[in-house]
Amino acid sequence: MMDKSELQRLAQDKLKDYLFIVVSNREPYIHSWVGEEIRYSRPASGLTVALDPVMQACGGIWIAYGSGDADREVVDKEDKISVPPEAPQYILKRLWLSKEEEEGYYDGFSNQALWPLCHIVHVKPKFDEKDWNTYKEVNQRFADAVCAEVGEKNAFVFIQDYHLTLLARKIKEHCPRVISAQFWHIPWPNYEAFRICPWHEEILDGLLANDLVGFHILHHCNNFLETVDRILECRIEREKYAIVRKGHSTFVRPFPISVDFHEVSGRASGEEVTKEMERLRHQYDLRQEFISIGIDRLDYTKGIPERLKAIDLFLSKNPEYEGRFTFVQVGEPSRVHIDEYKKINEEIGELIDEINWRHFRGRWRPILYIKEHLSPLTLVALQRLANFSIVSSLHDGMNLVAKEFVSSRLDGDGILILSRFTGAAQELTEALLVNPYSVDAITEAIKKAVEMPEDERRRRMSKLRAVVQENNVYSWAGNIISEIAKFEFPEG
Ligand code: F6P
Repeated sequence: MMDKSELQRLAQDKLKDYLFIVVSNREPYIHSWVGEEIRYSRPASGLTVALDPVMQACGGIWIAYGSGDADREVVDKEDKISVPPEAPQYILKRLWLSKEEEEGYYDGFSNQALWPLCHIVHVKPKFDEKDWNTYKEVNQRFADAVCAEVGEKNAFVFIQDYHLTLLARKIKEHCPRVISAQFWHIPWPNYEAFRICPWHEEILDGLLANDLVGFHILHHCNNFLETVDRILECRIEREKYAIVRKGHSTFVRPFPISVDFHEVSGRASGEEVTKEMERLRHQYDLRQEFISIGIDRLDYTKGIPERLKAIDLFLSKNPEYEGRFTFVQVGEPSRVHIDEYKKINEEIGELIDEINWRHFRGRWRPILYIKEHLSPLTLVALQRLANFSIVSSLHDGMNLVAKEFVSSRLDGDGILILSRFTGAAQELTEALLVNPYSVDAITEAIKKAVEMPEDERRRRMSKLRAVVQENNVYSWAGNIISEIAKFEFPEG
């Protein structure tokens, strides 16, 4: 286990004298107009939630797309702002994208081609040459922003995710004195699935400019090695998990991402949370014997319809729970300009209406749908209120909501129903693991959860908490930093 101060010491030791730059599409703090006032919020993004505490510990510059409507108002003339706004620890540098760039690079190639390509959820990827061209241009713009910061310095650049597959190659063309690592936050599919992308070679070539490529689990590392082996001319050194191509080696490693266990536990323990729980009970009439919760970005990969159907089936099979059980679905709108997301939004809304209509009694409805952005305090209060949480992703790189739920349960109680097809399922084996495609399996798990005796609930939760406490986000970052610190800067 590593904590924030140990990570700080490690970063100071290993990264001293070097510039540390993180690059991602999503920014950790978004400034928006609320009436006449500017306020900031934190996006619903596992990536930013995990990396923000790491950056707070390590310091450095984080370059990301400025997506808030008031983002430009608060930056300096270099488009920088110190964050977290209330207690600055590092620099956020915002990069601006035009509507056309956002459409082609973010909505288009990143989220309609690469996202469905990498998640096995049977949504057909859309490959559009115009989107691909915009994607390449935007990767170049991120590279220009990184190179402007690096100049003649030695720098470690830590790139995030599938939006920036060409970035390392483009940076190194101009700044060879950079060591770069890229972390892939979503699954990597097998070769058969990946090769349908018309630009598969360029994408792999871009990623292999990195010195290190990280995935959540070994299975995705193996898929990546196989994909590279079958597509590019190169040498795979299996025992070292390395790819050697044109004299350059790229190491491939699993680093299961996590949360800041102590921060979440701390947030869940304050008096403010107790008050927030009471407010929620009162506002939504959440006083039933069993409360269950699902917290997700509204995304077709999250298996939300499947879990709603399971709640419907559970109540139909066990009518004695009507009036005694409420499921709270928190849905954060996401990628709202994309058709598949519009469809899933409609499907979820219609399903909830139907199920509530079928089972309602007086004021009681089985499903409470909160379709809005909630504060970290409200989210943790809901997690504390719940008897059990359902994470039923059809496919998910890790799923940090599952780990947050576990971290929030300092009372030692609570049950996690978790999809086998999340990276988290490999570590959180004391959860009730389900195949999310099987509505019957989720229904059975719900039945098991409502009937589980307290000693079993506590035994399982204590093991789950030990896992997340041990493998927290600081250990994740510490492992990556230790790995990149082994590389030597090229001469020149
Ligand atoms: O974790 C995968 C990911 O796509 C991140 O890159 C991203 O920040 C998060 O999900 C949320 O998605 P978005 O940034 O598109 O809202």
